[in-house]
Amino acid sequence: MTGTPDTTHRPGTTNHPDRPVGPVTERAAAGFISEYAERPAGVWAAPGRVNLIGEHTDYNDGFVLPFALPQRTVVAAAPERGRRWTVWSEQAGERISFGRADAAEPGRVTGWGAYVAGVVWALREAGHDVPVARLAIASDVPLGAGLSSSAALESAVLTALADLGELDLPLADRPALAQRAENGYAGMPCGIMDQSASLRCQPGHALFLDCRTLAVEQVPFDLDAAGLAILVIDSNAPHRHVGGEYAARRAACESAAAALGVPALRDVTVDRLDAALARLDDETVRRRVRHVVTENQRVLETVELLRTGRLAEIGPLLTASHTSMRDDFEITVPEVDTAVEAALTAGAYGARMTGGGFGGCVLALVDTAAAETVASTVTEAYAGRGFRAPSSFTVTPGAGAERIN
Ligand code: GLA
Repeated sequence: MTGTPDTTHRPGTTNHPDRPVGPVTERAAAGFISEYAERPAGVWAAPGRVNLIGEHTDYNDGFVLPFALPQRTVVAAAPERGRRWTVWSEQAGERISFGRADAAEPGRVTGWGAYVAGVVWALREAGHDVPVARLAIASDVPLGAGLSSSAALESAVLTALADLGELDLPLADRPALAQRAENGYAGMPCGIMDQSASLRCQPGHALFLDCRTLAVEQVPFDLDAAGLAILVIDSNAPHRHVGGEYAARRAACESAAAALGVPALRDVTVDRLDAALARLDDETVRRRVRHVVTENQRVLETVELLRTGRLAEIGPLLTASHTSMRDDFEITVPEVDTAVEAALTAGAYGARMTGGGFGGCVLALVDTAAAETVASTVTEAYAGRGFRAPSSFTVTPGAGAERIN
């Protein structure tokens, strides 16, 4: 992975990463024992996320509504007397190590290890005395599917190191640190949604987060009780220029806010949207602004419906969010548009791409009994277009980061 002289590669010493055996918690603990010939001091887990609604609103100081996946990244860890952090990853099939100097300078550790070294870096930058440790990591969060496998990794490592070092680190402060690891060390200019979801979500709830104040509300999202399911469809679309396009969208939003004389697009509300658009010359920028402003409003309306238990009624808001991402923010690809259309044709209440875009996953709100039909309709539509087959699974909101052993 890294190419830095400080990093030890030991490919071939592990289970085959494509065919992991057994539950992920056991794999992390067993991996620790086989790599380090001792028992871990503890085992921690942090989930990937699905964002129900509120896309590309987080870095505009707006609103998001993610929930935690049952799929998690698990870290088995123990303090280390030496001076180097050692990290084994089942998925990568390798073990790396890095020292203080590597963790002090973004770019010294690259690849998956950057998310681990980045957490050490962000904690140390914030003045914490980070314990040196040995870590073993296993995960069942799908990689590269827009389900925040990187935030799950950062959050699991952060939670483990905070506990091992007994760091004074309130939960509310943790997402910003994990985000800093990603922005400042791994080099991805993401907002704060994914790390907040991984660290702060609760089972049975979606997390309504105000990305400006960081105030949270746990909004009940009991799909089972309503006879509903969220079907997650991995579009299996190849990722296309994700990082560059993401940064470009962020830059367009920030320049629009500056042109409008507001701190962030959050400050433009729907009733003032037309007046704001009239002040912007560029048609593309106008569409970007329209997406963000209307998306914030859709989050607020979704939260309102969930607060009163009207789950199925959020469907049209989900679909409107997708249309806005497709036409105004221009972050969808034919595979995800096909999945959304097919899901709706098969009777989904609503469907939308979730996550940063340019591939990744679609979520569809369906009657539990209809989930299979919706999934197979999407598969047929894919076959008709000659796309690589999608994969789908249903999810219910899981737990945020926690110590599990
Ligand atoms: C990625 C980023 C998040 C957020 C979403 C889009 O997942 O990591 O911060 O911006 O895209 O909503």
